[in-house]
Amino acid sequence: MKDLSTTYLGIPIKNPVVIGSSGLASSIGGIKKLADAGAAAIVLKSVFEEEIVAEADVTVAKQLGADENNLEFFDYYDYQVKNDVLENYVSLISEAKEAVDVPIIASINCSSYSEWVSYAKRIQSAGADGLELNIFKLPYGTKHSSEELEKIYFDIAKKVKEHITIPVGLKIAPYFTNLGNIIHRLSHSGVEGLILFNRFTSIDFDIENDQVITGNVYSASNEFTMPLRWISVMANNVGCDLIASTGVHDYRTLVKMLMAGASCTEVVSAVYKEGVEVIGWMLKELESWMERRGYQSLGDFKGKLSQGNSDHPEVFERVQFMRYFSDHKPVK
Ligand SMILES: Cc1cc2nc3c(=O)[nH]c(=O)nc-3n(C[C@H](O)[C@H](O)[C@H](O)COP(=O)(O)O)c2cc1C
Repeated sequence: MKDLSTTYLGIPIKNPVVIGSSGLASSIGGIKKLADAGAAAIVLKSVFEEEIVAEADVTVAKQLGADENNLEFFDYYDYQVKNDVLENYVSLISEAKEAVDVPIIASINCSSYSEWVSYAKRIQSAGADGLELNIFKLPYGTKHSSEELEKIYFDIAKKVKEHITIPVGLKIAPYFTNLGNIIHRLSHSGVEGLILFNRFTSIDFDIENDQVITGNVYSASNEFTMPLRWISVMANNVGCDLIASTGVHDYRTLVKMLMAGASCTEVVSAVYKEGVEVIGWMLKELESWMERRGYQSLGDFKGKLSQGNSDHPEVFERVQFMRYFSDHKPVK
């Protein structure tokens, strides 16, 4: 038996396979299946700022009707609807904590911090072991500068950390001009982990029916290269756990992320595609690989291929093909 123990947001976990936030963990049945299959920790489906606000708007509009006098009820209904959505989430956390013995991590998808401070407190009271904040606004607006958008991340992290004591992780996207600088600064902002990276739903076009449709919902197994590069480049230059997310589909990618310097990985698409059994396969094959390579624990090889531990750090910074592929033969 190998020692697969590691940490997620500084929380001790029994192995490096954490289930990332998704519908896989939106019911007690699903959560139990994941834990039984060997998941080391489970991130619940996110509670969405937009959803709560939208649901509150619809319900409040119905209650108001045409009668303006009803406006006095606005605040009450607005509060009540948001409260109901959050109440369901809080119940899921406490039921999950009773049902399984692995860490349960709540997840909030947010783009402002106005209401999240009180939500975070209730999530902590319900017994969540940690909180993941999925922060993102697509930067297509023309009014705000990069600095203003970046400040939102630090403000949210600061506010939430001021009000709760459980570990907090930030799940971010790679879309920053100076990604290394942001990862470094966020890792020292008081949070316990950074999840690199979030993967968004994409758009596609149906060219026969002139429609915008949803692109691939699940990641492909070759999408791991972006988190791999950034984890290996930043691993020796951060103040918290780095957690790999996107494209972890088998034990090979799991090993690569650990060798890059990740403390663990989050897995979603592989479980949707292959079933919960993929968790056990990954762990079994990880152990066989460690046996083959003579490793006893993850610490024996964690970060071994990070840029900081490399004799050729320049390789990590090479992004242009230059002469390297000048004699590359076209595929027939
Ligand atoms: C069906 C589905 C639902 C998801 N829901 C959420 C969510 O509620 N919150 C979140 O932060 N990420 C969500 N994600 C993103 C995943 O947590 C993860 O970041 C992404 O799928 C990349 O990891 P993967 O390559 O292992 O799938 C979802 C992904 C999928 C496929």
